[in-house]
Amino acid sequence: MTAKMEVPFFRADLGQAEKDEVLRVIDSGWLTTGRACAELEEAVAAYMGREFAVGTNNGTAALHLALLTSGIQPGHGVLIPTHTFAATAEAVLYVGAVPVLCEVDPITLNLDLEFVKAVIHDPGNHPLARRGGKLPPITGMVPVHYAGLMLDMERVDHFADHHYQAVVEDAAHVFGGYRLGKEGQKITPGQLSGAAALSFYATKNVTSGEGGMVLSEDEERAERLRRLRLHGLSKGAYKRFERGASWRVDIEELGFKYNLPDVNAALALPQVARADELWARRRAVAEAYAELLAGVPGLHLPNDAEAVEAMGGAGQLAGHSWHLYAVRLGADARVSRDECLAQMAERGVTCLVHWQPLHLHPLYAQMGYETGDFPAAEASFEGLMSLPLFAGLRPEEIEYVAASLREILQG
Ligand SMILES: Cc1ncc(COP(=O)(O)O)c(C=O)c1O
Repeated sequence: MTAKMEVPFFRADLGQAEKDEVLRVIDSGWLTTGRACAELEEAVAAYMGREFAVGTNNGTAALHLALLTSGIQPGHGVLIPTHTFAATAEAVLYVGAVPVLCEVDPITLNLDLEFVKAVIHDPGNHPLARRGGKLPPITGMVPVHYAGLMLDMERVDHFADHHYQAVVEDAAHVFGGYRLGKEGQKITPGQLSGAAALSFYATKNVTSGEGGMVLSEDEERAERLRRLRLHGLSKGAYKRFERGASWRVDIEELGFKYNLPDVNAALALPQVARADELWARRRAVAEAYAELLAGVPGLHLPNDAEAVEAMGGAGQLAGHSWHLYAVRLGADARVSRDECLAQMAERGVTCLVHWQPLHLHPLYAQMGYETGDFPAAEASFEGLMSLPLFAGLRPEEIEYVAASLREILQG
């Protein structure tokens, strides 16, 4: 089949403003972490409604440092969804703690808080324990806001108050997103937890090519995060190189080389300034898909009636940041997910899968996990695929993606 159109999974939406900012950095002669990083931190903190934001060289590093400053100790257990990206669990392992994989809601693919509750009240309910394994003491949790839909953080906060020390939000998908609380108030990443980690990876809603940030309300923690991201030094290079500044610097604790360079930070700055517009364009794509794909047999959409109910009502749609548009093919679909991906590729449309649940990967099988441990995550994964979703997706491309999928599933 010859494709009528090529639709990539992602195309960066960068223009003159980004070029100008990067040139400003080059012209300044200062390439590593300095003015642009500080400006980005200030802009992101203001946009996300947090007091402090500390830039890092990627989102994985942001998660690592957020966990390191959370009080979670080596050997402790940290609850995470099995349906997540490698980085969530890696960061837990980097601090010497143990990722305790959990079931997810089959529709939102966010942590199943009933499962979490059952494990907190009796660790014997966890699949590893049911097979005779012993779970470590659980003292933390990393909720992941999948695709840009925030988990119910009020409920997570309630668990944290009663049962464990630390919550770190993996907010890699939520730039600007929020959840409505019980009183109708907006809850944003990092507000009810100790810290939230953002990613500015190439495909993210706001990108610096590579980059990340930790959001927090705690000044001392922010200071420590700044230290840890640069070798544990008492002050960063930008301060040391200031005219008249002392060259003296102390290594106060074991740190990392995780600082966000100015060249990268500069790339993201103009996007933060137009983040509302970028978000609105993503939302418009999601709404167009919902309209064009309604009623396709065997296809479940992340904003259809069933999904809206699972996320807690139509009010929650407004806070969805639409990082991904992940659809699910039901068991009744005309073709399998992999066949559907192949046929979309034949038509020139690149789709991806976010993600294979962690417990189905060899590394986690070595930790004792088995197929069948998390049936809801497995069933959803079977049919899961992400359609192209980015701010610059053109109307004819949206129509072509939807028409292609409709054709494949309707026959
Ligand atoms: C849910 C989630 N967490 C963490 C990360 C890690 O971010 P980064 O790629 O910037 O290290 C990603 C990245 O794509 C992600 O999707």
